Amino acid sequence: MPLTIALPKGRLADDALLWLDRAGWPLPVSDNGRRLVIPSRDGSLNYVLAKPMDVPVFVEQGAADIGIAGLDVLRERAADVYEPMRLPFGHCRLSVAAPVDRPDRPLRLELSPRVATKYPRLAADYFRRRGISVELIALSGSVELGPLVDLADLIVDLVETGGTLAANNLVELRTILESQAVLIVNRASYRLQRAQIDHLLSSMRKIVG
Ligand code: PRP
Repeated sequence: MPLTIALPKGRLADDALLWLDRAGWPLPVSDNGRRLVIPSRDGSLNYVLAKPMDVPVFVEQGAADIGIAGLDVLRERAADVYEPMRLPFGHCRLSVAAPVDRPDRPLRLELSPRVATKYPRLAADYFRRRGISVELIALSGSVELGPLVDLADLIVDLVETGGTLAANNLVELRTILESQAVLIVNRASYRLQRAQIDHLLSSMRKIVG
């Protein structure tokens, strides 16, 4: 039976395919971009292209046997999956950032800052552990807008180059999580299709080191 691989659309997609190709995994056939399930040329794998936040859900639920997800998204979803291998791309960090002109003010305990984020679980955990009460504002994109339009005092968001923060007059205050791409496997699939999955994992391990 072909294994199903969930790949994230967006910024991890090109690197994910590059590393699968280097490891010798059969790649998806070329497509016009609208098909959501794409077979490999030899028919041994099916690829599912999902929103990055959904990849851990597909794999945890068994809709995909294997997936590539950012560690940030994996922890936010708290998905119960096997994590055999970190992959050498997608490096970024989940950070707390604030407006350049008032970086410290919002972290004062008595102010209960409003925090805009795509990562409400990780943000809530971070502030709770530090005894800082916050009001979380869950957004699904363009989080940096929050402080600009006075929707939020702080943001918790991914930083890769720092370009988006700088362009919006924001400064990084704390790092919550260092992230990178992770290869994940559905736990039941790993028991039932062990030989096939181990073959793919070992070919990746050879090039990842
Ligand atoms: C991510 C992240 C930041 C930006 C960081 O957003 O949420 O906005 O990239 O990258 P940088 O530090 O290199 O500037 P993405 O482009 O995925 O879009 P989104 O904000 O719509 O989610």
